[in-house]
Amino acid sequence: MAAELHIPMIELAPSILSADFTRLGAEAEAVVEGGATVLHVDVMDGHFVPNITIGPPVVASLHKVSKVPLDCHLMIERPDEFIPAFAEAGAAWISVHQEACVHLDRTLHLIAAHGCKPGVVINPATPVHALDEVLSLVHHVLVMSVNPGFGGQTFIHSSLKKIELLSNIRESRRLGFRIEVDGGIHRDTVADVVRAGAEILVSGSAIFEQGNPSENARQLLKSALDAAKQPVQDLSSPMAGGAAGDCGNSLSLP
Ligand code: DX5
Ligand code: ZN
Repeated sequence: MAAELHIPMIELAPSILSADFTRLGAEAEAVVEGGATVLHVDVMDGHFVPNITIGPPVVASLHKVSKVPLDCHLMIERPDEFIPAFAEAGAAWISVHQEACVHLDRTLHLIAAHGCKPGVVINPATPVHALDEVLSLVHHVLVMSVNPGFGGQTFIHSSLKKIELLSNIRESRRLGFRIEVDGGIHRDTVADVVRAGAEILVSGSAIFEQGNPSENARQLLKSALDAAKQPVQDLSSPMAGGAAGDCGNSLSLP
């Protein structure tokens, strides 16, 4: 019997790290208007990465106005101590770095126990095989295509083969996690990551730093969908807004 084809659903997840924080609600609304179906929230602690950003209070404010799921990317040490607060603030997805978690299996279960979709992140220097034992537990795997800490960095091309490998592993092990990519995604790199197998595309500076965020989001999503040879998504469909994230993995995910 022929193997089932995995039909990717491409989603754009703008990173608010590059947004104008004085008008965060309006910026979020603009990118959703442009087709974004997830908002990516970069949380940095000044220890795991050499930068500090935001915490649960900003997530709670954003949650009040956001029409789409909040994807909280924790670039922090000791994430277990903060997962309950991010869940309480309204995070829908929470991802933690493999490199930051001594007890990664426990941390992923903790995220799910708080009603959020668990994700695991790998830095550019971390091999995909470091995730072998947790791939059945996660809703998404986030492949960093820059070293985390700052927006506006140059895309690291070796991440493409990691995305491809993850896609192959997913197929051969018949798993359902989604593949997300973060860092240096703009109109010159988006087609390559989509063709490699990425489905959730995080982009910060290319969307918020110049021009109109809504239009930038629309253009980037269009380039991604063209690369995937998919029709433009119907945002009124029940699959929009991250609902395709029900992945049938072994954790009972909300
Ligand atoms: C980097 C963050 C990214 C970053 C992406 O540590 O995780 O989400 O904001 O920004 P760009 O798209 O500008 O590379
Ligand atoms: Zn991020």
